[in-house]
Amino acid sequence: MDSQHVSDDLDLEQTLFTEKQIQDRLAEMAREIERDYAGRDVLLVGVLKGAVMVMADLARTLDRHVEMDWMAVSSYGSGTTSSGVVRILKDLDTDISGRDVLVVEDIIDTGLTLSWLIANLKSRGPASVEIATLLRKPDAQQMEVDVKYVGFDIPNAFVVGYGLDYAEKYRNLRCVGTLAPHVYS
Ligand code: IMP
Repeated sequence: MDSQHVSDDLDLEQTLFTEKQIQDRLAEMAREIERDYAGRDVLLVGVLKGAVMVMADLARTLDRHVEMDWMAVSSYGSGTTSSGVVRILKDLDTDISGRDVLVVEDIIDTGLTLSWLIANLKSRGPASVEIATLLRKPDAQQMEVDVKYVGFDIPNAFVVGYGLDYAEKYRNLRCVGTLAPHVYS
């Protein structure tokens, strides 16, 4: 393991992205977002809980005013597979009709949850809905929804850190990495 920090937990097998790599990429995405939304108000919508870190850092590296709101959804799935059937646990506080909405995500795997969420948001009459995600897995390519801003495309492995959890743990790691096999066994 080549992790330099104490916070790069020993449970990690491999660090995929260091704190610096994540911050640098978010800054690049922020410059694109600033350009694309010049002269328009933008409402960032974070999906709890995983997107908390991405939202905090992306929003702060944006050199422009934004509003932030949050949704919490639960996907009815068996274990680690999501089914695309979704229940809203916490809805937006904001009326998004006529608004430019940018959904901020940590990771897109199958994209089933997100497809449902985007359809739900579009039914509320926003001016636009786009997606920004830090990480994207290969299965997301089958998703019918376009993802406008992608931090990193990653292989099909289970990753933790920077908001992403395994059994609610590891969300507060500053890096993103794969878990060592001893954690599962
Ligand atoms: P999807 O509906 O299959 O795209 O599932 C997306 C959700 O599954 C994400 O928001 C995460 O909460 C979770 N997820 C998918 N892959 C991972 C992973 O590698 N680590 C941690 N959580 C993941």
